[in-house]
Amino acid sequence: MRKLLLLVVALVASLSVVAAECMIIPKPVSYEPQKGKCVLSPKTAIYVAEKSLVRPATIFCSQVEAEKGLQLAVVEGAAPAKGAVALSIDKSLGKEEYSLQIAKSGVVVKGGSEQGVFYGLQSLRQVVFNAKGKGGKATLPCMVVKDKPHFAYRGGMLDVCRYFFSVDEVKKFIDILAMHKMNRFHWHLTEDQGWRIEIKKYPNLTKVGSMRKETLVGLQTKNNRKFDGKPYGGFYTQDEVREIVRYASERYIDVIPEIDMPGHMVAALASYPELGCTKGPYEVRTKWGISRDILCAGRESTFEFVEGVLAEVLELFPSKYIHIGGDEAPKHRWKACPECQKRIQEEGLKDEHELQSYFTHRVEKFLAKHGRRLIGWDEILEGGVSKTATVMAWRGAQRGVKAAQLGNEVIMTPRHYCYLDYCQTSDHDANNEPICAAGNGKRFQLPIRKVYSFDPYDQLTPEQRKSIIGVQGNMWTEYVPNFDHVQYMVMPRIAALAEVGWTYENRNYDDFARRLHLLRKLYDKCGYKYAPYFFNGIE
Ligand code: ACM
Ligand code: ZN
Repeated sequence: MRKLLLLVVALVASLSVVAAECMIIPKPVSYEPQKGKCVLSPKTAIYVAEKSLVRPATIFCSQVEAEKGLQLAVVEGAAPAKGAVALSIDKSLGKEEYSLQIAKSGVVVKGGSEQGVFYGLQSLRQVVFNAKGKGGKATLPCMVVKDKPHFAYRGGMLDVCRYFFSVDEVKKFIDILAMHKMNRFHWHLTEDQGWRIEIKKYPNLTKVGSMRKETLVGLQTKNNRKFDGKPYGGFYTQDEVREIVRYASERYIDVIPEIDMPGHMVAALASYPELGCTKGPYEVRTKWGISRDILCAGRESTFEFVEGVLAEVLELFPSKYIHIGGDEAPKHRWKACPECQKRIQEEGLKDEHELQSYFTHRVEKFLAKHGRRLIGWDEILEGGVSKTATVMAWRGAQRGVKAAQLGNEVIMTPRHYCYLDYCQTSDHDANNEPICAAGNGKRFQLPIRKVYSFDPYDQLTPEQRKSIIGVQGNMWTEYVPNFDHVQYMVMPRIAALAEVGWTYENRNYDDFARRLHLLRKLYDKCGYKYAPYFFNGIE
């Protein structure tokens, strides 16, 4: 009888262990629930073994205070054996790697660097949020988590040109990336519809180029000629840019600026018409789509302009990578421009595609001279690409496969899996979705399950896989006029993409879905305006 009782007790205990399922997104590499509980209270302090850990610890403290009402103090020095949260760096771990141990005696977070510790704390943040306990206490289930990202590059892009977002909103976007353990913010700063970054050498870029006289209303179609008649604009001063770069770096996010060239440059042409083949006149574009007016690649003065802009950009952004766009540059103007044709002849180029390749190579050389690397959209493959350019595959994963076969570094952001401006359900009208991206009369659909299913390695040999440095979600904003709407398009799909980039292996959609319901509560607590479809069972 006694034996049977012991058996039952053991069984119940083991069941309670098994029942403690992982609640962390993105899913960690290894999660082992342990017996017992650990109570955090206002008496608990966070001990940091090194001064550099004060910053991630402080960010964590402000999060758990806002989200759980738990007030923890940060203390520099060695932690006591019991009753503390102890943070330290363990050089045997990779830079972004961490371990998180929650035991009855306390919590231990070790990271390969400050960044690794930060990720350990972001996991702990989710555990604390889901823990039982009120009145400033949290009772955590014991566990051992060992974790590191699969991909080195895990990015999110925000287009601030079609619509403009304030410094505080951009910071909120960065917070959302950091919560999902993403480490790159690709900031799309220049477009046909608006130039958004102050460049001191070229003041007209913001004086003229940051404003459009009006904006298309509704979905862009051949026959839609409805405009709102209201001037629209905005830009970031260099001080604001520095503030955003600083804020992101505190969250271990590199900010990669994109200055899109030679296409998507109409706002710059409107500011300095001599930059275009026809010399204008131009006006900042008021509708979406692709303009035939692009930078003239024949004139030397264009390269002086590009280098003048980039010189200031390099001062502002410490990022190794600088994005120079390169997408959607129609060749009509170059075909008709005597100066572009002269350049083609003099350089022995075959056609206008090779002229774009010449253009990209020159810009790449300028960046390399300053110790930076060029990223371009996959169009840079046309007309020949240098081995050292990083290709951002957007028109399809196949473009990334091609770049990987050439041996180029690749960031995968194929539009049918990674474009967050695409509709979120398979029936836009029935589900009352707001206007979202469409083409050739068809809506583009990207339900969260499809994001989750993305395999950045598909069709690649083990050798070619090494070229894929990561994945990115892109938030284009033609139909996203305010920041509530940005959040609505980004969440929860960003969580799926985070799991593609961080977890990659051993992904399971049903398990993700279970954990996403928990993350939703944290979204709510943070006041995030996520989309409801997934949570209402709509795909
Ligand atoms: C792009 O979507 N034009 C890169
Ligand atoms: Zn030209």
